[in-house]
Amino acid sequence: MAEHQKLVWIIGASSGIGASLAQLYARSGWRVAVSARNEQKLKELAQDATQFDVVPLDVTDSGQVAAVIQQFHDGGKLPDLTVYCSGLYYPGGIDVLTEEHSVASMDTNYFGAVRVIEKLFPLLKERGNGHIAIISSLSGYCGLPEAACYGPTKAALINLCESLKPDFDRVGLELSLVNPGFVKTPMTDKNTFAMPFLLTPEQAAKDIYEGLQRNSFEVYFPFRLGAIMKVLRMLPYALYFPVMRRMSKR
Ligand SMILES: NC(=O)c1ccc[n+]([C@@H]2O[C@H](COP(=O)([O-])OP(=O)(O)OC[C@H]3O[C@@H](n4cnc5c(N)ncnc54)[C@H](OP(=O)(O)O)[C@@H]3O)[C@@H](O)[C@H]2O)c1
Repeated sequence: MAEHQKLVWIIGASSGIGASLAQLYARSGWRVAVSARNEQKLKELAQDATQFDVVPLDVTDSGQVAAVIQQFHDGGKLPDLTVYCSGLYYPGGIDVLTEEHSVASMDTNYFGAVRVIEKLFPLLKERGNGHIAIISSLSGYCGLPEAACYGPTKAALINLCESLKPDFDRVGLELSLVNPGFVKTPMTDKNTFAMPFLLTPEQAAKDIYEGLQRNSFEVYFPFRLGAIMKVLRMLPYALYFPVMRRMSKR
C-alpha cells in the first residue's frame, strides 16, 4: 500500500451496494478492505490484490469484529473511512414478525454497527482522525408497511447516529448517516411490491461516494423519494395512516 493511499473498509461488500461501492473506491485510487461472511464472493470482487484486501467477517460475532479491528491497528493501517453496509431483510408485516426474525435483523443491522463503532472509535480518537459511515435507510424515517422487522433496525441506526454525532465532533472524527431509497440488489429482489425511483447499485454507490467526499452528516437519495419521506415523517398520525393504508398492499 502506497504511503499516502487512503484506506476504506467496506463491511457488507460481498454483493449489492457494498460491492459497487468497493469497486468505485478502488477505481478512485483508494485501497479497499472488503468484509462480509461470503469469502468466495469477496475474492471474486477483489481479484486485483494491489487494490483490495479480503477480510472475512461475521458482524454478529463481537470476537471477530474486535480481532479484525485489532489487526488493522497492529498493522498500522486503521481505515481512513469505514462504511457499515451489512444488512438483513425479512420483507413483510405481521406475517413475518417473529422474535427470531427481529432478533436476527437487529443483530446484523444494528448491533453489528454498534460492535464496529465501539471497537473503532477509541482507536480513531487516539489517532486523531477517521470517518465512519453507517448505511441506514429512508425506511427508518417512519414505520412503513411491509417493514416490521427491518424498519425498526434502520430507525435505531438513525437515532444512534444522531445521538453519537456530538461525541464524534468533540474529538474531531467524522460520522455520516446514509439513507438510500430503493436500490436493485439481492436484498430488494425479494420485494413483491412496486419500488418507486428504483436505482442501480452503481447509481447508489456514486451518490454515497460523492456525499461522503463532502463529509455530509446525512447522505440521502434519490432526492425526490427522500423529500417525500421527509414530509411524510412530519405528518400528524390522522393524515399519516390514511396515506400508509393506500401504500399497503393488503
Ligand atoms: N437495496 C435497497 O433498496 C436498500 C435501501 C436502503 C438501505 N439499504 C441498505 O444497504 C445495505 C446493503 O444492502 P444491499 O441492498 O446491497 O443488500 P445485499 O446485496 O443483500 O447486501 C447485504 C450485505 O450484508 C452482508 N451481511 C449480511 N449479514 C452479514 C453478517 N452477519 N456479517 C457480515 N456481513 C453481512 C452480506 O454479505 P454476506 O451474506 O456475504 O455476509 C452482503 O454483503 C444494507 O444495510 C441495506 O439495509 C438497502
